[in-house]
Amino acid sequence: VSPEEERMKEAHILAAEYFQNLLLNTEQGEEGLNYLEGRGFTRDMIETYGIGWSLPNWDALTTLLQHKGFTLDEMEQCGLIIKREDGSGYFDRFRSRVMFPIRDDVGKIIAFSGRVINQEGENAKYMNSPESPIFHKSQVLYNLDQARPIVRKERKLIIFEGFMDVLAAKNAGVHNGVATMGTSLTPQHIQKIRRITNQIIVCYDGDNAGWEAAKRAADMLTAENLTVEVAVLPAGLDPDDYIRSNGAENFREKIIAEPMSFVSYMMMYAKRNKNFQYPNDVQQYADEALSYLTTGISPIEKELYLKQISEDTQVSLETLQGQLRLKETQSSDRANATPQKHFNEPKQLQQA
Ligand code: GTP
Ligand code: MN
Ligand code: MN
Ligand code: MN
Ligand code: MN
Repeated sequence: VSPEEERMKEAHILAAEYFQNLLLNTEQGEEGLNYLEGRGFTRDMIETYGIGWSLPNWDALTTLLQHKGFTLDEMEQCGLIIKREDGSGYFDRFRSRVMFPIRDDVGKIIAFSGRVINQEGENAKYMNSPESPIFHKSQVLYNLDQARPIVRKERKLIIFEGFMDVLAAKNAGVHNGVATMGTSLTPQHIQKIRRITNQIIVCYDGDNAGWEAAKRAADMLTAENLTVEVAVLPAGLDPDDYIRSNGAENFREKIIAEPMSFVSYMMMYAKRNKNFQYPNDVQQYADEALSYLTTGISPIEKELYLKQISEDTQVSLETLQGQLRLKETQSSDRANATPQKHFNEPKQLQQA
């Protein structure tokens, strides 16, 4: 790590201490503190996770860090401040937001995510640090530093959509969760994950965006030979919402402990918005569902899933088996014609 990057990380430590002191010990931090308490955060948790508050001022952090000997250029390069377009100076990136530090694999703070506490106006709900020499969004998994030893012990890693879900899960006694930083799962994330475990639970929000993202993530992870399960939430709830309305125990026992297999999830997803009175819908569903049965699945599972498809669509087992055999031939032809998927070829991964 270069000395410049070390200084950027030092600036982040100071900023985090500053934000936390504002939140916990000043009158100006009270609205942030009230907001967090309303969401179930205790003081203890706030300290453990390093959460803070940024002032509405345009230059609060800028001034503090200047006094500590940091240059404007340094602060700008790591995204803590923003250069004015007219060149007349700089201003603090984060203002009037609850501040969540984002740490790298070894627990060093490399970025922040700031949340507005009321959704009025046109401010984005979350503002993240931009890409910088120390923060590469496509590589960071929130809470990986803390989750790693637990994942090694429990074998399974849970991927959530948002870091609020990671924190809510921790409070509910589930400590092996991580989240991407507002981007979808990347090949670099998967590379990090596979060094720790090959068993993943995807637990995304119970809405269209979450279901779609879970399908993409599960697809990518499976294509890299990882074992994927999907923990599905009731419509309209994310993990944090679910814990608040149904409690920690239900979350652990009904959601996390009873995930769906990858194939079941994909079949369920393929079934959405289909009406099996229409031959076209039957065809589409059968086609997609069968495509998950061509590889990496035991004969017994295959038979069970085939029965399921047959029950769903009223197409006979024989016909479905015939279709499946056709697909298997096609996919083995493809496998022989093209090289195996590999980690250094993210393009192929993205197509998967
Ligand atoms: P809460 O609303 O605070 O409970 O957060 P959430 O995690 O439920 O947010 P949501 O499901 O809407 O989004 C999931 C993730 O996407 C968040 O954790 C953020 O990382 C990211 N995200 C959401 N909204 C924004 C936004 O306005 N800007 C940016 N940059 N990222 C966002
Ligand atoms: Mn770098
Ligand atoms: Mn969401
Ligand atoms: Mn959410
Ligand atoms: Mn939420």
